[in-house]
Amino acid sequence: MTLLTILTLPDKRLKTIAKPVTVFDQKLQEFANNMLDTMYEAPGIGLAATQVDKHIQLVVIDISEEKNQPLCLVNPKIIQKEGVQIHEEGCLSVPGIYAKVKRASTIEVKYFNEKGEKKKMQADELLAVCIQHEIDHLNGVVFLDHLSPLKRKMAIKKLEKEAEISD
Ligand code: NI
Repeated sequence: MTLLTILTLPDKRLKTIAKPVTVFDQKLQEFANNMLDTMYEAPGIGLAATQVDKHIQLVVIDISEEKNQPLCLVNPKIIQKEGVQIHEEGCLSVPGIYAKVKRASTIEVKYFNEKGEKKKMQADELLAVCIQHEIDHLNGVVFLDHLSPLKRKMAIKKLEKEAEISD
């Protein structure tokens, strides 16, 4: 098992725009497995490659309680969005901070799996939130960026305070 290091705010590398994956080889599958190990160990329900300082369009997700339904989305693209839902989100790169974020309630996403097979799926509720949150990471966006300037400021202050305490 290989655990990868997760970047946390205010690390500027989290703002990097990820590049599409063009080669689906053994190395990519190993990386996807390491991403899953890292996510489960954290523990979290989603992780984007950006968060481990690898700037390719790959995210892993598992929202199941038993942690036995891993999903790997490579080059994901949301092709349809519908409705609105508000969900309290957190992020492994923003430890200790939770905030309500407005997202589409139902989405349709096309992607490749880690083996390079073309896939398409519909998602709603938590899975839809998670996919939108992780795709944001690939575009250098963290969930705090969706908050009002005042709420974002308060969240960042809290983050800094907690970093001081743990120093
Ligand atoms: Ni996140």
